[in-house]
Amino acid sequence: MQRMLMAFSACFLLVLLQIFSASLFSLAQDQSGFISLDCGSPKGTTFREKTTNLTYISDANFINTGIGRSIKQAYRTQFQQQTWNLRSFPQGIRNCYTLNLTIGDEYLIRTNFLHGGYDDKPSTEFELHLGPNLWTKVSTTNENQTSIFEMIHLLTTDRLQICLVKTGDSTPFISALELRKLMNTTYLTQQGSLQNFIRADVGSTTNQTFRYGIDVFDRVWIPFNFGNWSQISTNQTVNVNNDYQPPEIVMATASVPTDPDEPMNITLVGVERTVRFYVFMHFAEIQELSSNETREFNIVYNDKHIYGPFRPLNFTTTSVFTPTEVVADANGQYIFSIQRTGNSTLPPLLNAMEVYMVNLLSQQETERKEVDAMMNIKSSYGVNKIDWEGDPCVPRDYRWSGVNCTDIDNEIPKIISLNLSSSGLTGELLEYISDLTNLEVLDLSNNSLTGSVPEFLANMETLKVINLSGNELNGSIPATLLDKAQRGSISLSIEGNTGLCSSASCVKKKKKTVIAPVAASLVSVFLIAAGIVTFLILKRRKKRAKLGFNPNLGTGTTPLHSTSHHGYESPVIAKNRKLTYIDVVKMTNNFERVLGRGGFGVVYYGVLDNEPVAVKMLTESTALGYKQFKAEVELLLRVHHKDLTCLVGYCEEGEKMSLIYEFMANGDLKEHLSGKRGPSVLTWEGRLRIAAESAQGLEYLHNGCKPQIVHRDIKTTNILLNEKFQAKLADFGLSRSFPLGTETHVSTVVAGTPGYLDPEYYRTNWLTEKSDVFSFGVVLLELVTNRPVIDQKRERPHIGEWVGLMLSRGDITSIVDPKLQGDFDPNTIWKVVETAMTCLNPSSSRRPTMTQVVMDLKECLNMEMARNMGTRMTDSTNDSSIEISMNFTTELNPGAR
Ligand SMILES: *[C@@H]1O[C@H](CO)[C@@H](O)[C@H](O)[C@H]1NC(C)=O
Ligand SMILES: *[C@@H]1O[C@H](CO)[C@@H](O)[C@H](O)[C@H]1NC(C)=O
Ligand SMILES: *[C@@H]1O[C@H](CO)[C@@H](O)[C@H](O)[C@H]1NC(C)=O
Ligand SMILES: *[C@@H]1O[C@H](CO)[C@@H](O)[C@H](O)[C@H]1NC(C)=O
Ligand SMILES: *[C@@H]1O[C@H](CO)[C@@H](O)[C@H](O)[C@H]1NC(C)=O
Ligand SMILES: *[C@@H]1O[C@H](CO)[C@@H](O)[C@H](O)[C@H]1NC(C)=O
Ligand SMILES: *[C@@H]1O[C@H](CO)[C@@H](O)[C@H](O)[C@H]1NC(C)=O
Ligand SMILES: *[C@@H]1O[C@H](CO)[C@@H](O)[C@H](O)[C@H]1NC(C)=O
Ligand SMILES: *[C@@H]1O[C@H](CO)[C@@H](O)[C@H](O)[C@H]1NC(C)=O
Repeated sequence: MQRMLMAFSACFLLVLLQIFSASLFSLAQDQSGFISLDCGSPKGTTFREKTTNLTYISDANFINTGIGRSIKQAYRTQFQQQTWNLRSFPQGIRNCYTLNLTIGDEYLIRTNFLHGGYDDKPSTEFELHLGPNLWTKVSTTNENQTSIFEMIHLLTTDRLQICLVKTGDSTPFISALELRKLMNTTYLTQQGSLQNFIRADVGSTTNQTFRYGIDVFDRVWIPFNFGNWSQISTNQTVNVNNDYQPPEIVMATASVPTDPDEPMNITLVGVERTVRFYVFMHFAEIQELSSNETREFNIVYNDKHIYGPFRPLNFTTTSVFTPTEVVADANGQYIFSIQRTGNSTLPPLLNAMEVYMVNLLSQQETERKEVDAMMNIKSSYGVNKIDWEGDPCVPRDYRWSGVNCTDIDNEIPKIISLNLSSSGLTGELLEYISDLTNLEVLDLSNNSLTGSVPEFLANMETLKVINLSGNELNGSIPATLLDKAQRGSISLSIEGNTGLCSSASCVKKKKKTVIAPVAASLVSVFLIAAGIVTFLILKRRKKRAKLGFNPNLGTGTTPLHSTSHHGYESPVIAKNRKLTYIDVVKMTNNFERVLGRGGFGVVYYGVLDNEPVAVKMLTESTALGYKQFKAEVELLLRVHHKDLTCLVGYCEEGEKMSLIYEFMANGDLKEHLSGKRGPSVLTWEGRLRIAAESAQGLEYLHNGCKPQIVHRDIKTTNILLNEKFQAKLADFGLSRSFPLGTETHVSTVVAGTPGYLDPEYYRTNWLTEKSDVFSFGVVLLELVTNRPVIDQKRERPHIGEWVGLMLSRGDITSIVDPKLQGDFDPNTIWKVVETAMTCLNPSSSRRPTMTQVVMDLKECLNMEMARNMGTRMTDSTNDSSIEISMNFTTELNPGAR
């Protein structure tokens, strides 16, 4: 039995610190991107830890609560200096560190816990939270035991909170907190963050643990050898230059099976079968092979081939990883097997391996602006509430006292009520309150607030109840607020403020108290109704996104910098014009002929100035409101490019809004691929032309428009063909080009169609033009294969994963659409597939720009045209041979999903 058992991380990590303090090996390296906090040391402390050369500083600037304590003197010689102090939290349930970081950056976050006898209760149990989500449960049983936890986390906001949460009697504490910035192109997940299971230096010949000094990212590598494996090593240089940068010392050693005919089996044990993993393996050939020797192997997971055949590069690192989660099989097992192929004269090898567990971190944080407002209110008023730590709304159990929020699964929580009555507040009403843009109830009664009643209260649209009674406010109430109160749209209580007057004359306190209860009861009815409506809208919206319709409710995007300006833009087009609803009725002959139904509404055939047109009637629910509609139409009227469907007019009369486009006689690409438009088949050249034209259209939206337009719904049904089979992109620019408020990139609803949706956008909610590139890659694969984007009956449901699998098996011809009957130049097929696969890279930064895609497609089109003209071009060097690998990073497709 050749099976290596990997123990559960906890057991591993408990002994970790002793190991690496004993035998550490390091060289001088840059510490930029590192944050090393010695928790509990006095403010201003800074020191260089002598075994690692890491510079630690006090944590005092990152947390306001807790008290500094020290471990017993006797332990100092045994443990590294950053654990000599610790921060203990006898007060409060949740206490949080707050770090200002940059959204989109990725960090390895490491927490250390060593009780060290700082008090007489070394046995503790508490929780560690990352923002509003449980990271892990921490427990210590004796004084001299170190616990370390690691998480790799891609920041989705620019504030990171790490909280210690009391769950029982014991007092939470923390010894050290370390953050290490990684390349954000590595360790990517489809969702969630990664908790360390093991990071193994396989075949280690030194028995040493390596970290910073050896590892540029301060990852800790544990020596790993197994009885039935043998070690091999080299003294030569090993190139480790990919984004993962495993240390050279780690890559210079490897294991091979002692019996060269046996596979290397790796079983993950000690976890529940619900745990999902990501696995990263690092390979390099470290033996000098003679010309008659080969080392070639496949990677098998739970008896399924997932990657290979693969030959490690000579003295060069290839990192192979699972791009999606690895799940247990029906027996709850997780078994990786590295197996030599029939061609291989040498056994397989493995240099290093990392295994991480997925932590979904599914609870969303409260909107940044609202959290900021609450933090500012807290600090400006000096609010002294012990539970005002961490996220104000979530998790539900630790919500701030006096705060109430919406509680809708999978939605961002919103603060709807704030009660700071009898809280000893002094000073004026703070404008920060106006940043609570979903607030319905504000109760500041019975404090000592002074100054006047500010105008902004009248402008807070959701606000229904304001209680300012029992303060020392003076001056006059703003007329707008008074007006709202008198109309009953707001309930305003101001009694007990002796100096307060209404706009013109002093309001009799008696009168106010009469109005208030009536208004309040009306308002509460209104509030209930409002609550239901909000709920319904949110529900509807969610469903729509799931079904893959275009969500139309105010999502804005991206005015990035426009880099180039080309295409065909003419500011005045004679046909562009506003039409009346009567015109539209006439034009469509009373909506006689339906051309199609899309996410935005029904499309009818019409005739305008003797030219056929397509009239898109926007459904009421898509109605954007006059102002926004008009702004968008004005923008769209300016977008002109031969590869984009042209808007020739529009109609806007109350709720009747429609857009009039040029008519595309040959329908959409999907109809042609599926054969719905008759038996004629699009030739490969025809498909290449369509691909190149739609790519140009998209490239224009990305680079030629100002503000840049991200299409967000690229798919075959949005590529239309005119009577000459010229392709044009449709459905761009609707409610898409406008940022909402100050948010530029973050849109609140993930738009798009399943299968075409960029997983990175889905995960991060971070929209860029690269999401379109992903969708366009899917379209390219459809053009080549003519197969469904998602097919649950296929070995890999998603077309991208399926093509990747077929390629890894070398099974290339079987992916091409049989309807093409072999009438194509294979080189151009390969080039298109290669381009498509780079478009589908899980990391958006690795995807090409549309400019590159256009160039590739044009080149293919030229080659195919030349071939069809009988003038075969000379074979260029076959640089399009199918290597999905980029920068020596290869992806491993997962087992059963
Ligand atoms: C290794 O794994 C493969 C595939 O899962 C299995 O067929 C084989 O029996 C295993 N070998 C050993 C020695 O466990
Ligand atoms: C720490 O740095 C100093 C000088 O920069 C160097 O002499 C020493 O060897 C380093 N120690 C370790 C453990 O890297
Ligand atoms: C983080 O930023 C906030 C303002 O956004 C500031 O008040 C705070 O001091 C910063 N914290 C640190 C540790 O720099
Ligand atoms: C990675 O970081 C860069 C800036 O350093 C940022 O532009 C990019 O969006 C980030 N990528 C992700 C996936 O967040
Ligand atoms: C650690 O503590 C336990 C009891 O708490 C003790 O038995 C053991 O000797 C200690 N080990 C060291 C290395 O101090
Ligand atoms: C590594 O440690 C193992 C067990 O602790 C020991 O058997 C082996 O000899 C050590 N190897 C080296 C090279 O020190
Ligand atoms: C590497 O060098 C050491 C000493 O210089 C030598 O003992 C060892 O055999 C060498 N290893 C290899 C694989 O060449
Ligand atoms: C490779 O060739 C060498 C001689 O050049 C020979 O000794 C060795 O047996 C050959 N190995 C294999 C696997 O054929
Ligand atoms: C590695 O070196 C061997 C022997 O020099 C050579 O035959 C082989 O092609 C090389 N492999 C790669 C992937 O470069």
